[in-house]
Amino acid sequence: MEYIRVTGGRTLCGTVRPAAAKNSVLPLLAATLLCGEPCTLRDVPRLKDVETSLALLAAVGADAVRGGPGGRHIVTRPGRALCGTVPAELAGAMRGSVFYLAPLLIRTGCAVLPLPGGCRLGPRPIDIHLAGLAAMGARIEMSGSAVTLRRRGSLQGTEFTLRLPSVGATLTLMMAACCAAGTTTLHGAAREPEIVDTAAFLNAAGAEISGAGTACIRIRGTGGALLGGCEHSVLPDRIAAATYAAAAAVAGGSVTVEGCPPDYLAAFLDFLDQTGCTVLRGKNGFSVTRCPSRPLRGGCDLVAAAYPGLATDAAPLAAAVLLGAEGPSRIYDGLFQNRFACAEGFAALGADVCTEGRTLAIAGREAENTPLHGGTVRAPDLRGGAALVLAALGARGTVLVADAGHIRRGYADLPGDLASIGADCRTLCPGENPGC
Ligand code: EPZ
Repeated sequence: MEYIRVTGGRTLCGTVRPAAAKNSVLPLLAATLLCGEPCTLRDVPRLKDVETSLALLAAVGADAVRGGPGGRHIVTRPGRALCGTVPAELAGAMRGSVFYLAPLLIRTGCAVLPLPGGCRLGPRPIDIHLAGLAAMGARIEMSGSAVTLRRRGSLQGTEFTLRLPSVGATLTLMMAACCAAGTTTLHGAAREPEIVDTAAFLNAAGAEISGAGTACIRIRGTGGALLGGCEHSVLPDRIAAATYAAAAAVAGGSVTVEGCPPDYLAAFLDFLDQTGCTVLRGKNGFSVTRCPSRPLRGGCDLVAAAYPGLATDAAPLAAAVLLGAEGPSRIYDGLFQNRFACAEGFAALGADVCTEGRTLAIAGREAENTPLHGGTVRAPDLRGGAALVLAALGARGTVLVADAGHIRRGYADLPGDLASIGADCRTLCPGENPGC
């Protein structure tokens, strides 16, 4: 088991640059299967989900390897004849396996995907992905543990309205439409920056997508032909950026985040303003400052929602900030039923929190002398794990976060990033006694 050890009480100071966004790299790797020429994704971080994606690409016969200086880039070449079946252990290792449905259906005519895994945030259906693909002519068979899609001839362009702005389904349908015959219009599409990034990649490879980033996306398909190739720099990880911003709020001090437009996480930065942090926004970065002697203001009523609302992935991070704020706050997550599984860990560190359905209620600090204390907690999922690390920055004592492997699915080295700006935080070596 992997552990992260954090000793709280240090204020932070320094600059950090978020890596490429996990939630953009994963769909982009799948989208390379739509390309008939080589592609390069630049500066891709070494995340567990990226390694899983590379294994999945190899398993279906695609050629995707790390290359460039220090293996920073991922280079893909059009594979030989691909296999349309995703191995169950790889499909179940991450939610990102869902992005292979459309490309494998396009490339092989028959895609078989065991149901995807990923963070246990509650039910994570793929009905919108499937309804859209069916509207394009795919034939769908569901077994208990896998979905099989077939097509006869090319997929057909269609008008389709998503019943809710699913990020994954928007990406799936955008990819499928690129190689369908005719034009597809997606209404009620997700508007996240990661959608815009994938559309930019596909357009650079020869697709004709307009409206990405709005609720209405129009795609003119190739009629079955593959796209070309391209080189693409992936957009920065706005959730990692929010993590570093939250660290400054929790620990106090001043942290500058470079290389990430503040608009990508505007709702989160507005929340930090509300708590009394000083947030200075530039064109491609921002800083967050909080005087350690000045407690944060609570009394927040937050709702996690689709972009440009407060990102659901940032909801646990906001909770970690509010644990030490004066006065009660509440956060409602409208997207995932079990978003606040980290509440158990917060409570183990002395926080007064409780979950009521999809809402996390946070009592906040009543007085100076009620900081969190040390202890051992368990990361329930990727962002919940990151939130526990953040909470530990404000604890009086040492916190051990167990099951820290969840965190490496989305951060190459969160402890290292935080230590670089002054935190006492590190990953324990394999076999090192966590109790010492
Ligand atoms: C993506 O998940 C991200 N994952 C999630 O990040 C992120 O939290 C989420 O988008 C929302 O921004 C990746 O990109 C790999 P959705 P996704 O489809 O696509 C429901 C992280 O920590 N829904 O936008 O699965 C769904 O149950 C991860 O990095 C359906 O009902 O999210 C949820 O309630 C966690 N039917 C809501 O929509 C569907 O067919 C939003 O899900 C699809 C989704």
